[in-house]
Amino acid sequence: MTSDLARPEGLDKVTGAARYAGDHHPDGLLHAWPVPTTVARGDITAVDTAAALAIPGVLAVLTHRDAPVLTLPADGDPTLAVLQSPRVAHRGEVAALVVAETPQDARAGAEAVRIGYAAEPHDVVLTDDHPGLYTPEKANGGHPAVRTHGDFDHAYQQADVRIDRTYRIGPLHNHPMEPHTATAQWADGRLTVHDSSQGGNNVQETLAALFGVAPQDVLVISEHVGGGFGSKGTTRPHVVLAAMAARHVGRPVRLALPRAQLPALTGHRSPTVHRLRLGADDGGRLAALAHEVVTRSSTLREFVEQAAVPARVMYAAPHSRTSHRVVRQDVPTPSWMRAPGETPGMFALECAMDELAEACGLDPVDLRLRNEPAVEPDSGRPFSSRHLVECLREGARRFDWAGERARGPRREGAWLLGCGVAASTYPVLVSPSTAEAVALPDGTFLVRTNATDIGTGARAALTGIAAEALGVPADRVGVAIGRTDLPRAPLAGGSSGTASWGWAVHEACTGLRRTLAERGTAPLPAEGLRHLADTTGAVKAGREYARHAFGAQFVQVAVDADTGEVRLRRLLGVFAAGRILNERTARSQLVGGMIMGVSMALLEHSTMDREFGDHAERDLAAYHVAANADIPSVEAHWIDEEDAHLNPMGSKGIGEIGTVGTAAAVVNAVHHATGVRVRDLPVRPELLLDALPG
Ligand code: MOS
Repeated sequence: MTSDLARPEGLDKVTGAARYAGDHHPDGLLHAWPVPTTVARGDITAVDTAAALAIPGVLAVLTHRDAPVLTLPADGDPTLAVLQSPRVAHRGEVAALVVAETPQDARAGAEAVRIGYAAEPHDVVLTDDHPGLYTPEKANGGHPAVRTHGDFDHAYQQADVRIDRTYRIGPLHNHPMEPHTATAQWADGRLTVHDSSQGGNNVQETLAALFGVAPQDVLVISEHVGGGFGSKGTTRPHVVLAAMAARHVGRPVRLALPRAQLPALTGHRSPTVHRLRLGADDGGRLAALAHEVVTRSSTLREFVEQAAVPARVMYAAPHSRTSHRVVRQDVPTPSWMRAPGETPGMFALECAMDELAEACGLDPVDLRLRNEPAVEPDSGRPFSSRHLVECLREGARRFDWAGERARGPRREGAWLLGCGVAASTYPVLVSPSTAEAVALPDGTFLVRTNATDIGTGARAALTGIAAEALGVPADRVGVAIGRTDLPRAPLAGGSSGTASWGWAVHEACTGLRRTLAERGTAPLPAEGLRHLADTTGAVKAGREYARHAFGAQFVQVAVDADTGEVRLRRLLGVFAAGRILNERTARSQLVGGMIMGVSMALLEHSTMDREFGDHAERDLAAYHVAANADIPSVEAHWIDEEDAHLNPMGSKGIGEIGTVGTAAAVVNAVHHATGVRVRDLPVRPELLLDALPG
């Protein structure tokens, strides 16, 4: 049974009653504002706080000289060791933190702090022949950095048709609508923080370790979160700074990061360079596939965008090489951004497949059908379910792909029209979770688990799962989430939240229902009846299958024949993601993901300033994301997919797959319209102008 439940907290959100991390006002609340470093590499040699401290309302300026000492665990994230050393690893790192009575005072104080540096030459330009490139042991997600099958070089040389192309994607920034914010308060050695986080348990444990207190003495509350896209997936510096400042001054402190500081402090998608080589017979059947990725990380932490990984999943090619190399530069530390790995990797692979289709004289949908693998190409494992072919066929039917392509690229007034397609994939991830179901004497039920709703509709999805498992109407089920004093649960990330929490909720409700049935009609005790579930053992089962969601996106664009401006006309995606648990919130996730892909293809542009060593576009005035007028038509569909090897609900994740593939479909459509292959995102008018008829 699929539900269409609306978000139970929807009214609170649209009326402003929902409280986000910055909406809490404990007595005596102070405000903090970071002072960013202005060199990209070197040491802090002087700090002058006198002018800042002279501002009425400024209480303190924390620097590495007087900030509380943090204990970073051996496997801890070095970006969280804030204000611990004079060393500068990148521009925009936190050099000092001003604490004041109002945000305005704190900001004025931050502008008045003077920092002196011994600057060193910095290295911030990524090239694919950088001498510092090395092969890491693993890419993000624990994937081996390098995989080879057969003899790629020989098979490639023997191929009838060869494609050898390089694709480049610059840095991309998460920019959730709610900037990273924390309100922190210490009382009797215990810390309470309201944090905009994708997962409070990680924040709780990290803060406990950093400040040397027991985890049970840290309460993290993330009741409502205004998006994250990966940038709130781990503990971020803002919450450490807020807790540090609150301890230092002995009053509650709020830190809401200014938007322009997000790119340097909260992670971003690292730039990637992709060399794609495809060798096929003249019928388009792949014999050889190489996807070699070059990316970078900061000097603080190795993070390797796993962009060659989807090439291990998508197409049958007996001879293959997929590899990652990384260089450590004086740049902000990259991290997760929506579908890390798959999003940039599938841009390159799916553009290359379009180029191969053209070289073979084949329809791009047909080319993909010819390369459908029987088992997962890299591992040889059977797929738990794979309906990419059905997604391609259903999307082509709904889009009238054959008709559009038969009509060819065409002109409509000032506009050149073309259409493109790409495939998408995202792994099925699931983590152990706990949840408790409570039956109350008034006939209602409460589900308790530390899930996080980052705007996705987690409460609606979990209410539906619980109501179905309990066999009661949804209006008798309440869901309590977003606090670390609830049963432990994993983060909202890796498109795994609903599967992970939902599995535990399903188990708890199933267990409770069984207990209630055994009791018969005896009245319930006043405190209710409880059943706690823990899926730690259960999630380990089923690893013999390769589990992924698949999809296909179809796009029509219009390119201004005079200016090269590209406008989206139509965007249609069809997905195979197991059972869709809540149609309303699932559609919203898939549509949102696809819009993010359009944004990546046409608008989002970040440049690393080689002189200053920083991202130049740091706010939403300079870093453009798609707005309503950029998206005239977007449709998300899915096919009914039954998969018994997932979880009791039969669901796959849907948070990230919408983005994957979309940018390639857009760029392939731009090629169809103009004849120009854009291999360097985003599509900019200057890349098209020379080829336009005017
Ligand atoms: Mo997603 S990038 O795993 O939050």
